[in-house]
Amino acid sequence: MSVMGDSKAAKAMRQSNNEWSNKYFAIAIGVAKRFGWISVANLVLLVFLALKSTPLAPLTGRSYEKLGPLHKVAGYTCIFTSCLHGIVYLVAWSESGKLGSMQETENIAGSIAGVAMVIIGLSTITYIMRESYEIFYVLHLTMFLLIIITVAMHRPKLSTSTLIIVVFTACLWAMDRIIRGIKTVWYFLGNSATVTVLPNNALRVRLGRSMNFSPGSHALLWVPGIRLFESHPFTLLSSSPPEFVIRVHNGFTRGLYKAVQQAPGRSLRCSVDGAYGQVPNFRVFDKAVLVAGGSGASFTFAIAMDLITSTCKTVKSIYFIWIVRYQESLEWFAQELKQLQEHPDVNVVIHVTRQAEQPGTLSLLPSGSASEKISIQEDLIHTKPPPTHHNTDLEKGPLHQFTAKDCFSTNEVRQGRPDISNFISAAADSGCKPDDRIIVGACGPKELMIATRNAVSDIMRKDGPAITLYTEQFGW
Ligand SMILES: Cc1cc2nc3c(=O)[nH]c(=O)nc-3n(C[C@H](O)[C@H](O)[C@H](O)COP(=O)(O)OP(=O)(O)OC[C@H]3O[C@@H](n4cnc5c(N)ncnc54)[C@H](O)[C@@H]3O)c2cc1C
Ligand SMILES: NC(=O)c1ccc[n+]([C@@H]2O[C@H](COP(=O)([O-])OP(=O)(O)OC[C@H]3O[C@@H](n4cnc5c(N)ncnc54)[C@H](OP(=O)(O)O)[C@@H]3O)[C@@H](O)[C@H]2O)c1
Repeated sequence: MSVMGDSKAAKAMRQSNNEWSNKYFAIAIGVAKRFGWISVANLVLLVFLALKSTPLAPLTGRSYEKLGPLHKVAGYTCIFTSCLHGIVYLVAWSESGKLGSMQETENIAGSIAGVAMVIIGLSTITYIMRESYEIFYVLHLTMFLLIIITVAMHRPKLSTSTLIIVVFTACLWAMDRIIRGIKTVWYFLGNSATVTVLPNNALRVRLGRSMNFSPGSHALLWVPGIRLFESHPFTLLSSSPPEFVIRVHNGFTRGLYKAVQQAPGRSLRCSVDGAYGQVPNFRVFDKAVLVAGGSGASFTFAIAMDLITSTCKTVKSIYFIWIVRYQESLEWFAQELKQLQEHPDVNVVIHVTRQAEQPGTLSLLPSGSASEKISIQEDLIHTKPPPTHHNTDLEKGPLHQFTAKDCFSTNEVRQGRPDISNFISAAADSGCKPDDRIIVGACGPKELMIATRNAVSDIMRKDGPAITLYTEQFGW
């Protein structure tokens, strides 16, 4: 009796265990499936947010590079939920003794997609992006294509809808590439780049064919003779002819620099993909304050030159602040700087933050520009320490003590780093009415952009003029 009773109890217990595990297995599989769906949804979203020719640009007033952080969020969400999708399935299958399912082709494909996602995630480590952008880019592209193929193989049946979503995602991406390819082919026809070497490791690139662009936008420059499979973004300084000022780093830009040194005056076949960028219309404001650090001045010079040449604008005064490391770098934008300094509506201030390390750098100048350099120095450069006011210097002084006259007194070059908040507050306050509209545009290193943002937020007042801030920042 008791044996029979025991086995009945054991049977009942096994049954209840089975029910329990079946219930949990069903829940786990349900949860894993939901994670799978979230991943697929984010896959479409992240591709949509990465398109260069995106419809979101005109709709939101933000171009692809400003949508980058949203692309990243969608990407990391996709990686995270894909991992959870895989882990929950694995646990559920191992608990229910069904791990053998992992040997099915569909699930092997799913696992490969998961690994590819993790590799993409790891490739976005700042160090890799900064030190070898190409490794990041190649990993990003190849892993993305692998993901698209393996996710399609993971759920190959049309009835599951996943395949439709994956095909749609692939079409979005391909469409963007085709549009970019057409632009690149179009601008390749009859185009060439004439490159001039500038002091302090910089180049000025002038293209043969003109292109349409709005001031402050950028284009991806492709010079197949230097790097066949690379194109790099640079801010367009002017449109007719299109010109870029390029700071030399270690990859494509170094290749371009070397090619020009070896054969000065040689023109290179090239093309551009662009123009990209949704920059606010600076012309409709009353005052423009432009802040740049180093090569970030490509952006502010493009805006300022448009403002002084345009007849259709409401801007009455422009305050232009450019901070460079070495005095020789002023030659990067010599003609534009001269024009700005001679214009009655423009107040220019330049800060040079370091002493030249190698006097020999000037030997990099092409022979033709030596005379130009002398004239720049004579006309524009009167090196002077920053003015003092009530025994407090401009670098450290409290905000309210400085006027635009202190900050933008003459066309001179000052030594040392300025306190950007003093300049912005002085420029914004000068001759300003409460109903004026001011725009602050800034481009350059991260630290300078943070300082500019903080400075603008400090001068915001309820009863003050309306201030719009636009920063172009690049750096990992
Ligand atoms: C919108 C935008 C506008 C820019 N405008 C200018 C400009 O007017 N003048 C200028 O001198 N620089 C500009 N830059 C920076 C310029 O794109 C990089 O300095 C250049 O691509 C470096 O090329 P490289 O192969 O010589 O660099 P590397 O020596 O390989 O790397 C130097 C740095 O450039 C980054 N980088 C390399 N390739 C790219 C790429 N294809 N896209 C983005 N970053 C990359 C790397 O992560 C690294 O931080 C701009 C960047 C952006 C995003
Ligand atoms: N459209 C774009 O997005 C675009 C276009 C062109 C360039 N860029 C980016 O702009 C950056 C410029 O780089 P670069 O190498 O040409 O410039 P750089 O040589 O680093 O020069 C920057 C200058 O700004 C000064 N500076 C930095 N932080 C400051 C602060 N908080 N206050 C005052 N001055 C400050 C520096 O002073 P110190 O000497 O004291 O450091 C230096 O003189 C790069 O990241 C480049 O990629 C972006």
